[in-house]
Amino acid sequence: MKVFVTSIIPEIGIEILKKEGIEVVQYKSYLPIEKDKLISKAKNCDAILCLLSNKIDKEIIESLPKLKVISNYAVGYNNIDVEYATQRKIWVTNTPDVLTDSTADLAFALLLATARRIVEADKFTRDGRFKIWQSDLMLGKDLKGKTIGIIGAGRIGQAFGKRTTGFGMKILYYDKKRVLQFENETGAKFVSLNQLLKKSDFISIHTPLTDETYHMIDKKEFSIMKDGAILINTARGEIVNEKELVNALKSGKLFAAGLDVYEFEPKITKDLLKMNNVVLLPHIGSATVETRNKMSELAAKNIVRVLKGKKPITPVNSI
Ligand code: DGY
Repeated sequence: MKVFVTSIIPEIGIEILKKEGIEVVQYKSYLPIEKDKLISKAKNCDAILCLLSNKIDKEIIESLPKLKVISNYAVGYNNIDVEYATQRKIWVTNTPDVLTDSTADLAFALLLATARRIVEADKFTRDGRFKIWQSDLMLGKDLKGKTIGIIGAGRIGQAFGKRTTGFGMKILYYDKKRVLQFENETGAKFVSLNQLLKKSDFISIHTPLTDETYHMIDKKEFSIMKDGAILINTARGEIVNEKELVNALKSGKLFAAGLDVYEFEPKITKDLLKMNNVVLLPHIGSATVETRNKMSELAAKNIVRVLKGKKPITPVNSI
């Protein structure tokens, strides 16, 4: 059995594969492998272990006749043509649960960083501009008593919501269906997207990227938001129309934005780079030592199970 690993990942996953007698072919680079190269290197492989930056489309899947499983080293799997993989009876797996808390922590870090202007204030201080204590220096926004609107109450959205209750925030959430356990645990109220946009002081996005959620936050949605709202996105960049986000920041409609993901990732709209009220991170939602090791372990174990003829631990399709 042979696996193609498209990038550098924590060794723990590679060791698991090798211990099972699986041959590992690894592309040892951080740059996304080009399509042709991927196809030629993975030609006789039974499995691919890939990153969210690898687009695994129909052409790639078609070109790999022995493929039995595509194991994504991420919880989001919008980079894979799951429908076609399913048609070809190929398992697609992801890495849920293990990254829930680290991603929720990062979203919360962005919430505090934007509300209290942490990055801007750090720069101000480093630039030697802290000369005297001022009553109106770097004024931000309180979290206590404010309303947080959570778009997508899946695992990460719920974990993020629980953190906000510790800071005395009221939760509104929007999802395709109600999540009663979340409501019971946090007092969160289920509302329409319009209501959420209209009533929230802070909005945090935790929904997967699908055809339905592409540009879910566009010109109209920004216009509905409260003046001075703060937007946090740790899900996928394409959920927000980045041009309209820039307009909303420029016009003062938004007080700030905290972003870990971008519409044209890894490219970032130039205007955002110039704005002090935007905190920009390089897609590090799950980037803790513990979580990245667990993701590597889970991605490898999913492959091992499929190659042993078993159902993977965390499939996203059923074949
Ligand atoms: C994921 O797993 O989908 C995250 O975006 C990675 O940090």
